[in-house]
Amino acid sequence: MELNRRSFLKKALAAGSLAAGTGSLFSACAGIRRSDLPDQNIAEHTANQLDAVGNSILYYASLAPSGHNSQPWYVRVLSKNEWIIGVDPDRRLPAVDPANREVLLSTGAFAENLSIAAGAFGLKSEMEVIANDPFEQDVIKVTLRKTKPTDYPLQRITRRMTVKHDYLSKEINAEDIRALSEHLTGRLFYFPRGTDHATCIEEGAIENFRIQTQRDDAQKELVQWVRFSNKEAERHRDGLTLEGMEIRGFKGWFVRNFMNPEDFMKPSSRKQSVDQIAKLARQGGGWLVITGEGQTVSDLIDSGRRFERMVLTARERSLAIHPMTQYLEEKAGLKQIAAEHDQRVIPHFVLRIGYLDTYPDPVSLRRPVSWFVRS
Ligand SMILES: Cc1cc2nc3c(=O)[nH]c(=O)nc-3n(C[C@H](O)[C@H](O)[C@H](O)COP(=O)(O)O)c2cc1C
Repeated sequence: MELNRRSFLKKALAAGSLAAGTGSLFSACAGIRRSDLPDQNIAEHTANQLDAVGNSILYYASLAPSGHNSQPWYVRVLSKNEWIIGVDPDRRLPAVDPANREVLLSTGAFAENLSIAAGAFGLKSEMEVIANDPFEQDVIKVTLRKTKPTDYPLQRITRRMTVKHDYLSKEINAEDIRALSEHLTGRLFYFPRGTDHATCIEEGAIENFRIQTQRDDAQKELVQWVRFSNKEAERHRDGLTLEGMEIRGFKGWFVRNFMNPEDFMKPSSRKQSVDQIAKLARQGGGWLVITGEGQTVSDLIDSGRRFERMVLTARERSLAIHPMTQYLEEKAGLKQIAAEHDQRVIPHFVLRIGYLDTYPDPVSLRRPVSWFVRS
């Protein structure tokens, strides 16, 4: 009986026949969101090595984006005002990011949130990149000194999220591009939808996603970071929840209740992901590329910091920005970029951009501060 129901639902889902109009029916069975967990704010799970301000600063830092939401960072507290930001080797993504490139970009985003939050609490943060090698664990030394608090609106950090669906097919206006470029002068390039370059990036993003989806090691790694059940999500507070992947309504309910991680390794599942990405890649106002000076640890931390400054301002402009990194992870994508550009062009991010009619609230989970602070 159970098996019949399961296979009926699988068939129905594959045909897409039940997908529409079922959201309200199953809304009581929604996936877990950030607002569902009381301790996703600073009130609980504080690190006793730090005072309330230190805990608050690291809470804001932890809201940074990261590849697969692996939250690769730890913080070692040397003293009240001296911390080390490091990369936890168990949170690396070796199959898609063997050189630790994206881990360092994510660590840069974390460092930027930390610096912004510290400023708002009246602390200037001096950051020294101490790692020379991308695989060193201790990456940045932070020294905090008292200063006048800034008036940076911290709700930019708490409300930022990576939105992937429902981009409007409208060109991004020049004023918005100018504002986004503020911290990336000469390093941010916008390719409006429909231009040759945008179409080329669009097709490359889809093709490299397809190539990556065929790689068993990459797919296995992705599945390891998907939190299929609400319980698992609550236990880990990291990775990709179904809400975070915008798998909602009936589809989310179905995946939570009837699918196993192994199902995502099947060719039909992989094909569905490629079709879905192709649909998304064709939505929106075009593409952004952020380039860097090089691929050293300092270069990547710097780009991660600037990227974060930029995305923090996207929401107030009704703009969604979606990293689509496969282009920079697959050999074919890198080869194509190298063949068509001067070698001084070093892309650090490939991003889809688009206006939204309605901006959702953040859903992805974070580990509480005490989970990533070390003495
Ligand atoms: C360096 C980096 C690479 C990323 N690559 C991708 C990607 O290829 N595809 C994707 O859908 N999201 C990508 N993301 C977005 C993350 O999945 C997202 O930040 C994470 O799930 C947390 O969600 P949030 O940004 O809404 O807080 C990337 C983020 C970073 C910082």
